[in-house]
Amino acid sequence: MDDMKLEIPSPAADELFFAEEHESTPLRLLPGWKLLIVDDEEEVHVITKMVLEGLTFSGRGLTFLSAHSGAQARDILREHCDIAVILLDVVMETGQAGLELVEFIRSGLGNRTSRIILRTGQPGQAPEREVITRYDINDYKHKTELTAQKLFSTVTTAIRSYRDLNVIEKSRQGLNLIISSTKGLFERRNMALFARGVLDQMSSLLRVNEDCLFLHSPSGFAATVSQGDIAVLAGTGEFSHCGPIDAACVLDDNVTRVLQRALRHKCGVFAEDSFVQYFRSRRGSENLLYFRLDRSLSPFERRLVEVFSGNVAIALDNMLLNTELLHAQKEIILTLGECVESRSKETAGHVRRVSECCRLLALRLGLDDAEVDLVRLASPMHDVGKIGIPDSILLKPGKLTGEEFEVMKTHTLLGHQILKGSSRPIMQAAAVIAHEHHERWNGGGYPRGLAGEGIHLFGRIVCLVDVFDSLLSRRVYKEPWPLEQVRDFILAERGEMFDPHMVDTLMSGLDSFVVIRQEFPD
Ligand SMILES: [Fe+2]
Ligand SMILES: [Fe+2]
Repeated sequence: MDDMKLEIPSPAADELFFAEEHESTPLRLLPGWKLLIVDDEEEVHVITKMVLEGLTFSGRGLTFLSAHSGAQARDILREHCDIAVILLDVVMETGQAGLELVEFIRSGLGNRTSRIILRTGQPGQAPEREVITRYDINDYKHKTELTAQKLFSTVTTAIRSYRDLNVIEKSRQGLNLIISSTKGLFERRNMALFARGVLDQMSSLLRVNEDCLFLHSPSGFAATVSQGDIAVLAGTGEFSHCGPIDAACVLDDNVTRVLQRALRHKCGVFAEDSFVQYFRSRRGSENLLYFRLDRSLSPFERRLVEVFSGNVAIALDNMLLNTELLHAQKEIILTLGECVESRSKETAGHVRRVSECCRLLALRLGLDDAEVDLVRLASPMHDVGKIGIPDSILLKPGKLTGEEFEVMKTHTLLGHQILKGSSRPIMQAAAVIAHEHHERWNGGGYPRGLAGEGIHLFGRIVCLVDVFDSLLSRRVYKEPWPLEQVRDFILAERGEMFDPHMVDTLMSGLDSFVVIRQEFPD
């Protein structure tokens, strides 16, 4: 397995779960331990198979693989990465063919778990001391020394240590996966994405224990309980069609029964052919993770599932808390924006429309999700500085005098002053927007006369959206303009007041912006 970047403490031996040698009957017939015989004498193959035929270990028999040369063995080893024991001749096509194969297995393939037993007929060719020191082999036997009974016990011992090494390796992989996947879960921003992430990570975890290639993709789904009903959020494998979109996804009785059991006992359930993990958030919402299996999980696998689920529960709480915080922030910001709006007697709904239109424009401009959210949340505060403008100017019907207009302009600086103290990303974005939403693309705006891309992207977005919505609305100093006239005005200001690319983006989706106006009417 690849070396992962994360360092994890290797678990103490007593924390690992070695399977009992007489496990409960498995649901399907377990595949045999793979034993590779590499020898250029056909007779050796025949005798070895005869001697080892009836060997079983931990409920599994043997599956024989045969190679008559080093070259043939390489092909087989490339194809099978789960060979438990290799009985290896030294002298084959060359005097060193067997030893070269050891090099290939350990260094070339990076396989350190297959147990290698060297069998040689000509001890002089490969002196035991030198070979054991130089090559990574596990046993060295002279062919004459290997009686039937000896071969039987040597192979049994080798399989046992292969199995134990594998358990250690799988637990290392599993723990690595849990550590690296948990970080990913903490970054998920909503419930649907979170559910998807948990499913993907749990699938990988279940595949860790496949002996070799990841052949089977497990089937399962994540669900939440709403008003007593189980609603699937996302599915994988057989359940991949399930999800919020496919309400018709009906769960069969067996599945529902295990889910109900988990809900009744408020804890995870491991059944013969499936398992459920139960998560209750701090606010009391109940969530379930179901997986169908084609065999029951070993104690070690159950433990991995539980450790992972423990992390999921923490990540879930974290995500719900974050969402709640964001909602609270959004409400506060909107309320603040609306206070300013009502004081300056602007039309009701202006800040909500600006917020939604900014979101849409940012989306159409191809900004990433985090930026789209930021501009949507921060834009309602663009005029917060108006709380420092005297009523005589703010509420004056008709045109402002030059002097009054100079005072009015200071709302950008005041807003910036009010908001810039916070280190929260939303507040920082709001500070930039308050500062720059009256700058013009051609450099003729205020307060700083910034131009082109020197004006922050958010400033340019809010500038266009603010004017667009204000022109369509009634103000103390003007009647609403018809849409035609607004469009002409914005097109005339393309490259003057507004970023030309943004004007094109707004115009190409004008209908959807008009729909937002209808959703939040004056
Ligand atoms: Fe403004
Ligand atoms: Fe505005």
